[in-house]
Amino acid sequence: MSSSDEPEVSGIAPHPALTKYYGGESQRRSFVTRIFDQTAHSYDWIDRVMSMGSGVRYRRDALRRAGLEPGQHLLDVAVGTGLVARAASDILGDGGSITGVDLSMGMLAEARKSLPIALVQGVAERLPIATASTDFVTMGYALRHVTNLENTFREYLRVLKPGGTLLILELTRPASRSLTYSLARLYLHSVVPLIARLGPGGADSKKLMEYFWDTIDQCVPPETILNALSDSGFVSPRRDISHHVFSEYVATKSPS
Ligand SMILES: C[S@@+](CC[C@H](N)C(=O)[O-])C[C@H]1O[C@@H](n2cnc3c(N)ncnc32)[C@H](O)[C@@H]1O
Repeated sequence: MSSSDEPEVSGIAPHPALTKYYGGESQRRSFVTRIFDQTAHSYDWIDRVMSMGSGVRYRRDALRRAGLEPGQHLLDVAVGTGLVARAASDILGDGGSITGVDLSMGMLAEARKSLPIALVQGVAERLPIATASTDFVTMGYALRHVTNLENTFREYLRVLKPGGTLLILELTRPASRSLTYSLARLYLHSVVPLIARLGPGGADSKKLMEYFWDTIDQCVPPETILNALSDSGFVSPRRDISHHVFSEYVATKSPS
């Protein structure tokens, strides 16, 4: 299936259709593809500014915490420009290998410039990857963009070997009306889009970062994600949170 084909929508969407940006649910995927294609060349710049340079280190630490080991095969879904894959390659060493999947050709073209890994166009909800073929699946900051959680998680379970691990990195909004919510909203909703406007992506990057906050603000709560992981067949899913907003969802496929 090409990324422009409309997906079957069954199950829980990570957030309601954001009609400020696209007409309705059936246009979600084409909007997401377009905005990431348009901003691919400026994505690393935005990530560096937004995370104040700590993005790749945080991803590497999270991969270690989730148990990634040298020599394993890792499938990085929504590889983007390759920030998770780059962090993983430091841990995997020469004996390990990585496959990256993304729906955006623009993002894949950026990743290809610096990453000597297999890169494939495809979507999380229908992965172009063989069954039981990988030790570890990762998805960094893209769960909010899939069309539904269950299809995505069932695909992750299918491609993992028995005993394999899933790690999803996400930003989670703090409880509304808390001080941390107000600070997160101020930074992500107001400051980051303005800074993004000044970078190489200009107005497109500003729009991406406004959309970014709206998807965080409207996202289903962590309990819904954990329940969808269990319902899809993952064993003992858990969520660890740091600095009030950085969520790490870790789940495993049963060894037998
Ligand atoms: C915010 S970027 C994250 C990139 C990278 N994982 C990181 O940690 O920086 C989100 C990426 O998800 C991709 N994406 C969005 N929806 C997707 C889907 N349904 N299947 C595969 N990739 C998707 C986008 O094209 C984009 O490259």
